[in-house]
Amino acid sequence: MDLHLHLGEEGGLAEQIYAQLHERISTDALPAGTVLPSSRELAARLSVSRATVVAAYERLAAHGLIRSRAGIGTVVTGQRIPAPAAPAASPLRPRAIWSAEHLAVPDLTAPATEFDFTVGVPARTRFPFARWRALLNDQLRTRTDVNYADPAGSARLRDALARHLVVSRGVRIASEQLVITTGAQQAFDIAARVLLEPGDTVAVEDPGYLPAYRGFLAHGARVVGVPVDSEGLVADRIPAGTRMVYVTPSHQFPLGMPMSESRRTALLAWAARNDAAIVEDDYDSEFRFTGRPLTPLQATDTEGRVLYVGSFSKTLLPALRVGFLGVPATLGEAARRAKFVADYGTGGHLQAALAAFIEDGDLARHIRRMRRSYERRHHLLIGTLREHFAGVLEPIESSGGTHMAALLTPGQPPDTILAARALAEGVNLGTISRWGIEGPGPSGFVFGYGAISTDQIPDGLATLRRVI
Ligand SMILES: Cc1ncc(COP(=O)(O)O)c(C=O)c1O
Repeated sequence: MDLHLHLGEEGGLAEQIYAQLHERISTDALPAGTVLPSSRELAARLSVSRATVVAAYERLAAHGLIRSRAGIGTVVTGQRIPAPAAPAASPLRPRAIWSAEHLAVPDLTAPATEFDFTVGVPARTRFPFARWRALLNDQLRTRTDVNYADPAGSARLRDALARHLVVSRGVRIASEQLVITTGAQQAFDIAARVLLEPGDTVAVEDPGYLPAYRGFLAHGARVVGVPVDSEGLVADRIPAGTRMVYVTPSHQFPLGMPMSESRRTALLAWAARNDAAIVEDDYDSEFRFTGRPLTPLQATDTEGRVLYVGSFSKTLLPALRVGFLGVPATLGEAARRAKFVADYGTGGHLQAALAAFIEDGDLARHIRRMRRSYERRHHLLIGTLREHFAGVLEPIESSGGTHMAALLTPGQPPDTILAARALAEGVNLGTISRWGIEGPGPSGFVFGYGAISTDQIPDGLATLRRVI
C-alpha cells in the first residue's frame, strides 16, 4: 500500500510513526482490514531503522489496533478508538464569494425512485460499456507515452473531434482551436480565465444553467440574468458594457425552446456592436428530432466572437467528465495555457479511448441509437402532457435534447411543493423555479427522459397527475 508518513524534527521517530498511524486508524483513513507495509519495507521507505518501525508497530499492537496475521502481514483490526479531542478552530476563512448562496453544491445524487425524470442524466443502461472497457483496456495495455502531454489535448482526439463536429453540427473548428476539457464546466472556466477581468459583466439566460453562472461568478465577474422568452434570450435586454454572453441556443436550459433565427442574428449583431464574446453551450444538440437543423451560432459567426462549448456528458456519460472548448484562432494559445494552469491536461488514456471511439464510428452509432430512443420518449411525454394535463401544465415546444419543460398554469401551488408531493409518490422530477438567476424562475417542471424508460413514462405521469 502507498502509505505516506512525514517524519519531522520533533519527537522520536518511533513516536511519530506511532502517532500518525494511530491518527489514521482512528479516523478510518486506514480502515479495518488494511494491510500495512512490512516493517522492513516501511523502514526502507522512511529511511529509518527497522527496529524503529517495529517499536511503533508493537505499540499499536499493544493497543489492539493492529495485529500480525500469518500469511497476510500486519493488519488493521478495526477496534474502535475514542474520538480525538476536536482540533483548535482555525482562524482561516474562505473568500466571501464562497459563501454566495448560488455557489452551494446541490445534492447531485438522484434519489432512487420508481419514476425517475432526473434532468441531465443520459440512458445509463444503453451505454456500450463492453466496447468502452475494451478500448480503455487496450490503451492501458499498449500505451507507452505515459508522461505529461499537450495540455490542449491529444492531436488524435482533437482531429477526430474536429471531423465529428463538421459532420454532426456543421461546425468548422481547426483542431488547434480545440481544447479538451473536464466537461463543459471546465470550458466555461477556461473561457472566463482567458477573457474576463475581475468585475467584468457576464450576461446569462434567466432562467438558465446555474453551473455556468457559478463558473463566471467564482471568477469575480458580475453575472446578470437576462430574460428569455419563447424565442430565447432577449438580446435587447443585455446590459450595456457586458463583456461576455452565455447562451444555450439549440435547446435553452432549462426551458427547452431553440433560439429563433432573428434572435441569433440580433445576438451576433449585439456582440459585434458591443465588442463582446459569446459562449455558445451546445450541450445536447445532437439529439434533434423535429424541425430544420439549427445551425450553431459558431457556424454563422463571421466575426470570430463565438466560443463553442460541447460535452460528452449527454452523448456518453456525465461520469467521464469530458467536454471541449472551441475558440477563435486568436484565443487558441491562451486557452491552451489556461488549461495547462488549471490541471495540466485531461487524462491520456481517456482521450485515446475516446479518439478510437469516435474514429471507429461508435460515437455516431451510439448517438443515432439514442436519438431514436429519446425521440420516442419525447413524443410520448409531450403527447401525454397535452392529453392529460390540459389546463394544468403547458408544455414548451422543443426540437430535441434529453429533457423538456412545462409551465404550471396560474393558480397552481408552487412547483417546489408539487415536486415534493410527487417525490413522496415515487416520481422524481425537476422544477423550473430553481434555475432562476435574478430571482426564482417561473413555476413548472423539467422532465428529464434519459433515465426513465419509455414504458415507465405513462405510469410516471399518471402518478404525477394524481398529486397535482
Ligand atoms: C446546459 C448544460 N450545459 C452543459 C452540460 C454538461 O456539463 P458537463 O459537461 O460539465 O457535465 C449540461 C448537463 O446537464 C447542461 O445541462
